[in-house]
Amino acid sequence: MKIQNICCIGAGYVGGPTMSVIAQKCPDIQITVVDVNAARIAAWNSEDFEKLPIYEPGLSDIVREARGRNLFFSTDVDTAIDRADMIFISVNTPTKTYGLGKGMASDLKYIELCARQIARVATTDKIVVEKSTLPVRTATAIKNILDNTGNPVQFQILSNPEFLAEGTAVADLFNPDRVLIGGEETADGQRAVRALVDIYARWVPAEKILTTNVWSSELSKLTANAFLAQRVSSINAISELCEKTGANITEVAQAIGMDSRIGSKFLKASVGFGGSCFQKDILNLVYIAKSYGLDEVADYWEQVIIMNNHQRQRFAHRIVKTLYNTVSDKKIAFLGWAFKKDTNDTRESAAIYVADYLLNEQALIQVFDPKVTAQQVYADLNYLNSRAEIDNEKSVQVHPCPYQTCQNVHAIAILTEWEEFNTYDWERIYQQMHKPAFVFDGRNVLDKAKLEKIGFIYAAIGR
Ligand code: UDX
Ligand code: ADP
Repeated sequence: MKIQNICCIGAGYVGGPTMSVIAQKCPDIQITVVDVNAARIAAWNSEDFEKLPIYEPGLSDIVREARGRNLFFSTDVDTAIDRADMIFISVNTPTKTYGLGKGMASDLKYIELCARQIARVATTDKIVVEKSTLPVRTATAIKNILDNTGNPVQFQILSNPEFLAEGTAVADLFNPDRVLIGGEETADGQRAVRALVDIYARWVPAEKILTTNVWSSELSKLTANAFLAQRVSSINAISELCEKTGANITEVAQAIGMDSRIGSKFLKASVGFGGSCFQKDILNLVYIAKSYGLDEVADYWEQVIIMNNHQRQRFAHRIVKTLYNTVSDKKIAFLGWAFKKDTNDTRESAAIYVADYLLNEQALIQVFDPKVTAQQVYADLNYLNSRAEIDNEKSVQVHPCPYQTCQNVHAIAILTEWEEFNTYDWERIYQQMHKPAFVFDGRNVLDKAKLEKIGFIYAAIGR
């Protein structure tokens, strides 16, 4: 079976880049990315390629090449569903904020809406691909809805979790460590699996395309993220011990990373992991384990989150303690707001939590991030909303220039590892600050010796 027409529901951080790359690699396949968010679709269709709704290195060039040829962005969900042979579901699955499973389970309402819409609209057989991260056995729910509502057409459900990391999405899609495709172990299921394998095989070597049953695929995605997040929490736990003992976390990470059984990646101590996946996926794993009565399994993984929350908090606490136990009415500059470099995504970014803590201590915060808008910063703080009595618009200012951001501040906190921070004129920044001038490096990215020579008092995670 050869796929000619693809529809992707959800034009976000997963759907947008993934479909752009498939479109570039498969010019003979027509791809329509649809979304209910009209502003987002308009931004994808923008004539100015710098205005795409998602910032990813290399993405705008791909969209420039494929858009209008075989890549289309639209709000007409029904038409795109009806025309497609294969439908990717790439809608968001945030952690539930209400009811049963609140704060832990994934909210599958958008997934369910998609399934119902597909069932209502489809007049021909479809392969439905779960791209969003979903709790294990979600495919059963989707299949139930598809098979029991709407027209009598055949649906095959595949799980094809996305492993791309934001900031390196295009490179990860071009050159994935593996592509995972889970399908039913029936003849029809296997035919659907092959149709999707054939698409990836255009640019991914065969030995990197792994096929499994649907449940293994769904659970592998959660497990991969849980293991990665666990590494970050593990190194962060040791960073606190380093600060007490005089060991240096960068040296410790290098020393353990050279053990080939441990490996050197994902050992950067930080102010805490963020992003839309790690916390959500672990909470999901914890919730699933609990629902099967596996309390020890649940507690084991929950500790990864507890450690992460602790890391954010203790960074903020260290700032307050160092600034003579009070930050009331002191200005603190935040360099970086995104959850990591090379993305404009701020979901679960440590910066939000550190800012919240400091605002509770009555600090004034000035923010600069190369890719995050002021509107987004306020939206993030208002969403967290732990301080009804504090007016974020008064206490927080967002500047388009790093030098302006650091003017007259008592301290600078580095929240994201943007490379440009290293290239700034730190002499000039020093001149503009209150003395003593403090830098709290939450990402271990600045040159300690250089800053100390200028006169800064420098403190970093794990050092
Ligand atoms: C992650 C997974 O890597 C990806 O495979 C999955 O598909 C989605 O979730 P992402 O959230 O985009 O990707 O970013 P990732 O690079 O994994 O970083 C997550 C967080 O961990 C970031 O806040 C990052 O700064 C932090 N991190 C990462 C560290 O603090 N230290 C490290 O050594 C690595
Ligand atoms: P992710 O990181 O998983 O890609 P995003 O929030 O960036 O998450 O993107 C998900 C997109 O899915 C959003 O743009 C949202 O508007 C869209 N979406 C959610 N539900 C539906 C739906 N039922 N139909 C179409 N689009 C939807």
